[in-house]
Amino acid sequence: MSGYFITFEGIDGCGKTTQRKLTATWLREQDIDVLETFEPGDTALGAKIRNLLLSGEHVPVPETELLLFLADRTQHVREVIQPALQRGAVVLCDRFSDSTRAYQLAGRALNADVLEHLLKTAELGFSPQLTLWFDLPVRDALLRMRGRSAGGEATNRLDEEQQSFHQSVSDAFVAMNASEPERFSRIDAAAGVESVQRQVREIVHVAVQDILA
Ligand code: TYD
Repeated sequence: MSGYFITFEGIDGCGKTTQRKLTATWLREQDIDVLETFEPGDTALGAKIRNLLLSGEHVPVPETELLLFLADRTQHVREVIQPALQRGAVVLCDRFSDSTRAYQLAGRALNADVLEHLLKTAELGFSPQLTLWFDLPVRDALLRMRGRSAGGEATNRLDEEQQSFHQSVSDAFVAMNASEPERFSRIDAAAGVESVQRQVREIVHVAVQDILA
């Protein structure tokens, strides 16, 4: 049996991590085998790459940044995602290739054709079947992030980018949602946590039902 691959995407502060956890709990309550994971950094090697990317100790040039995210992904797919899908699990992954499209392509203005080729190479043939895009205005996301850092939560090098960078990233998600309507599902992330979770469940219920029933 093969599993089902769902990614959670959106700008920093959009609430996708909270929603991933709630979704995992809900699916497990129905005896569904769930793997929760994230990028960057959910393998032993990836944790080191994550630190290189986000600690702020080094500021990579855009191409290096891209290649480090892709190195993390390939390791992640081979070690974590592929085995979970092969055992039939529903994989809930916080960020994947669409984050690279948004942050490195739109945010850093790298070459689109080269990037698509590299993305496919890094995915090792495992692309998401469903992508939940948590749509939140940049202004709201920045307010949430400021609240988190005032509350003592760590921020990373990319959280601290200018508003214009976050706007480009956000615009890229809008464009991806429009161009891939079969895979993308837009979630109104400005609603409260419970209302957002209701939207997620409606979509995931249909998706998982089809594949695992
Ligand atoms: P993280 O602390 O995991 O933030 P979040 O909870 O918002 O996912 O930091 C991950 C950061 O890395 C986030 O700012 C998005 C960025 N990123 C990229 O720029 N490219 C990528 O391919 C991925 C996976 C993440």
